[in-house]
Amino acid sequence: MRHAVIAATGLYTPPHTLTNAELVATFNAYVERFNARNAEAIAAGEIEALPPSSEPFIEKASGIKSRYVIDKSGLIDPDVMRPVIPERSNEEISVLAEIAVAAARQAIEAWGKPVSEIGAVICAASNMQRAYPAMAIEVQQALGIDGFAFDMNVACSSATFGIKTAADYIATGSAKAVLMVNPEITSGHLNFCDRDSHFIFGDVATAVIVEAEEDATPGQGWDIIGTRLKTVFSNNIRNNFGFLNRAAPEGASAKDKLFVQEGRKVFREVVPMVSEMIVDHASDLGLDPTALKRMWLHQANINMNDMIGRKVLGRDPSPEENVIILDEYANTSSAGSIIAFHKANDGFAAGEMGLICSFGAGYSAGTVFVRKR
Ligand code: COA
Repeated sequence: MRHAVIAATGLYTPPHTLTNAELVATFNAYVERFNARNAEAIAAGEIEALPPSSEPFIEKASGIKSRYVIDKSGLIDPDVMRPVIPERSNEEISVLAEIAVAAARQAIEAWGKPVSEIGAVICAASNMQRAYPAMAIEVQQALGIDGFAFDMNVACSSATFGIKTAADYIATGSAKAVLMVNPEITSGHLNFCDRDSHFIFGDVATAVIVEAEEDATPGQGWDIIGTRLKTVFSNNIRNNFGFLNRAAPEGASAKDKLFVQEGRKVFREVVPMVSEMIVDHASDLGLDPTALKRMWLHQANINMNDMIGRKVLGRDPSPEENVIILDEYANTSSAGSIIAFHKANDGFAAGEMGLICSFGAGYSAGTVFVRKR
């Protein structure tokens, strides 16, 4: 069995930032207009007036200060409240593939090897632009890669499921190297009219190259020491959008075709599930989790990440130990832990250990223990 190595990563950050102040101003303008439009029905008790959103609440409840988005114009227009991303013709590269390719090019450049070494492309993300042909095949073609490619969706856990799949392909000899991309245009699945969740997500794309240890450049990259996946069914994070309900009417009945969650329940149920999984997996690998130099957790919510960090290390982690990028990027679904890994993997001596971990809808969770080469 061949061991796998994370050889390189890449990151595409969209051009527009959207701050909490801008988001809240737009939401509150939408609320004012809604309440004015429905003043009679509200006065008659037929519908409830919408309450405003608040910046201090958002920062305290989530740790998010800002996010990047592909389109800002629609998100700061209270009459639109959704990203405006024009449809492209079949002859143009799709938006999702375009941002995946941008992240992949950066990873390939850092890797420094020809794409002919790559035998498989996995597009692992929460939302695919279309049903088929696979986004991964479009990315494969744009980069001139041979072999095979496919899409997979495990919501916020997609990247760790993708890394494990890549590592298993390396182990069995299915590919010499695998490119795994996570294009996340989460602004497209977010209900910007929902006060409870309008602040949660941001757009981004990440890329990871996994190759066989025997091919990896000595001293470069990260040995994958162990990978583990877990899923437990839950309705607490859900999106009912699908090909059987494409004609869903706008308005109230369309809300469940976007991201919906029971945030409190998610918090209560996912924190223990993930902390126990990390500790058990470490123990099965003969590792002391409290000796991890760094954790690159899914960037869901500051309070969730702090609590998981505390449970794993048995003390308050320092900012170097528990990397947080969600203040700047928000929750970027599958890409969050990879952005953290990409941006903050310096200062490791050979042999020091870290953990990439994701969790989210399904429920789903994945752990990838890595050791600096
Ligand atoms: N502005 C101001 N107040 C708001 C608000 C907003 N945008 N949204 C909700 N509130 C209010 C609520 O009305 C409620 O008021 P009440 O106490 O008077 O009823 C109060 O704030 C608390 O609401 P609640 O939804 O319970 O907030 P919370 O502290 O649980 O935080 C989340 C909400 C979503 C940030 C939090 O539950 C969370 O992050 N959960 C984890 C889920 C997650 O990260 N999922 C992503 C997929 S992995």
